[in-house]
Amino acid sequence: MPPSPESTQDQFFHRPELATALADQAQDTSLGTSGGMFLAAPRRTGKSTFLRQDLVPEFERRNLNVIYVDLWIDKTVNPAIHIANAIRTELARDDGSIAKTLKKIANMSKLTVGAWGNGLSFDLSQLKMAKDATLADALKALSTASQKKLIFVIDEAQHALTTDEGINALFSLKAARDSLNTDPGKYGMQLVATGSNRDKLATLVNGREQAFYGADMVSFPALGKNYVQWLVSRAKLNLDIDAATGVFQSVGSRPEPFRKALSQTRMQLAINPDQDANAMLAHLAAQGVRDAKADFLNTVASLPPLQSALLRELAADAALGSDVRRPGLFSAAMKTRLLARLDTEMGAAHGVSVESPTVQNALDKLREENFLWRSQRGSYSVEDEQFLAWLVEEDRRQ
Ligand SMILES: Nc1ncnc2c1ncn2[C@@H]1O[C@H](COP(=O)(O)OP(=O)(O)O)[C@@H](O)[C@H]1O
Ligand SMILES: [Mg+2]
Repeated sequence: MPPSPESTQDQFFHRPELATALADQAQDTSLGTSGGMFLAAPRRTGKSTFLRQDLVPEFERRNLNVIYVDLWIDKTVNPAIHIANAIRTELARDDGSIAKTLKKIANMSKLTVGAWGNGLSFDLSQLKMAKDATLADALKALSTASQKKLIFVIDEAQHALTTDEGINALFSLKAARDSLNTDPGKYGMQLVATGSNRDKLATLVNGREQAFYGADMVSFPALGKNYVQWLVSRAKLNLDIDAATGVFQSVGSRPEPFRKALSQTRMQLAINPDQDANAMLAHLAAQGVRDAKADFLNTVASLPPLQSALLRELAADAALGSDVRRPGLFSAAMKTRLLARLDTEMGAAHGVSVESPTVQNALDKLREENFLWRSQRGSYSVEDEQFLAWLVEEDRRQ
């Protein structure tokens, strides 16, 4: 049976004030058009949910043309394809009526409507933006056809940095934005992006040569007491909201582990109603974090020794902060550190090579297994901030 309208509405905790405030910011041009708005917050804290359920609908209420793309949804797909497909879907909306309009617009002969609008396959060679700037052309045409300001929302934007095509797609978006915001008779364009890691997002906005140089970076506020109140009352549990909010924060303000602890609490109370619900929630949540941490550290411990050592050296460097210059992964200093670690753990006769090709191979494996993130320029960081924190804690204890 399909869910009733009420239950669908209730599935998410909404933050309308935040949506209004951020939409106002994105539209404000009193200080000139910025390079865009970047929202940073750790993984699984509710960025995508907020974008989809609150911010995009708010933009739509304001009669703006919104294109949303999540680069995280399928990481095996080149991020440039995700971006291009999002534009293509928009062009094909309303039974291709926009695409038909596009055909009539001058200068659009380059844009093959078959491939962009209705075609099922998508050719990567279309994405050589530097040559023919098709993405930018498509966006300009879209704006002309819709006669609305365009808001391009890229979820997990840092992922675009992992391929050349992704980087080119960002440059193309920038070209489109600059021209839509400055050419007379256009309706303007703004970019909103999210990312799970401030360091990675910083690459996008801090380098003068980067596509979104000068964009405003804001810490996206975590869910808090109001969300906890909402969820606890849905679960019909009698809990102290301040204490429960503390528990929510202790699981990194992530809804999933918190929901799990709540559901376990409810089950325990059903079996034995005399127990202290607040204490039980705190206990079960802490247990959940301990289990997840132990599971992760066990996985790291069972990696091949060089991979494990590299991951922990990278974590140790990351813990020094982003303003400390780190030795290169292939430097003599790093080789010495890796050898020292391997010697301590396995004895001097371990025989593990720390020569560059072996290190490169280990880094590739760590990336394939999603422990590491690598930018197209070759800098590496630990994929998940939670993993990073656990690795650092573990290292300090030894
Ligand atoms: N406002 C909300 N109301 C209800 N559940 C939420 C809300 N925000 C996030 N969640 C839940 O938390 C989990 C992670 O959210 P998600 O939006 O995917 O995080 P992120 O995009 O930051 O990684 C999902 O299971 C989602 O349903
Ligand atoms: Mg997300």
